[in-house]
Amino acid sequence: MFPMNDLPAMARQARQRARADYSRFKVGAALETADGQVITGCNIENATYGLTLCAERVAMFKAVSEGSRSFRRIAVVADTADPTPPCGPCRQILWEFAGDIEVILANLKEEKGRHQLSVLLPLPFDSRLLSKK
Ligand code: THU
Repeated sequence: MFPMNDLPAMARQARQRARADYSRFKVGAALETADGQVITGCNIENATYGLTLCAERVAMFKAVSEGSRSFRRIAVVADTADPTPPCGPCRQILWEFAGDIEVILANLKEEKGRHQLSVLLPLPFDSRLLSKK
């Protein structure tokens, strides 16, 4: 964890640490907490393929395990002309732990778009529904 700066730039740095030995598709994420800390993540693949963790979930689980509870934004970076949005499972995890944060998509050169998570994950399932019968 370190003070917030340029979120996509921090995601680009994290991306360099990706372990994408199978897909060769490296992704970096930088998650900003409500108090301005930034926690980064990169995708981590392994030989079973199925145990892959996306950069977004690595960042979020690192943050939660270090005690962060409240978040503002996340930047996601890949080396693609079209932006790389979070996959479905990552949208769910981000929603449950961060709520309606801003998702900044960027490539190695520039920002490619900003979206509220509620737009990327309409009609979410979450703990509020568990308490209703
Ligand atoms: N990946 C991410 O880390 N984040 C995304 O938003 C999309 C996909 C990873 C998973 C896998 O390691 C590789 O990219 C190819 O799907």
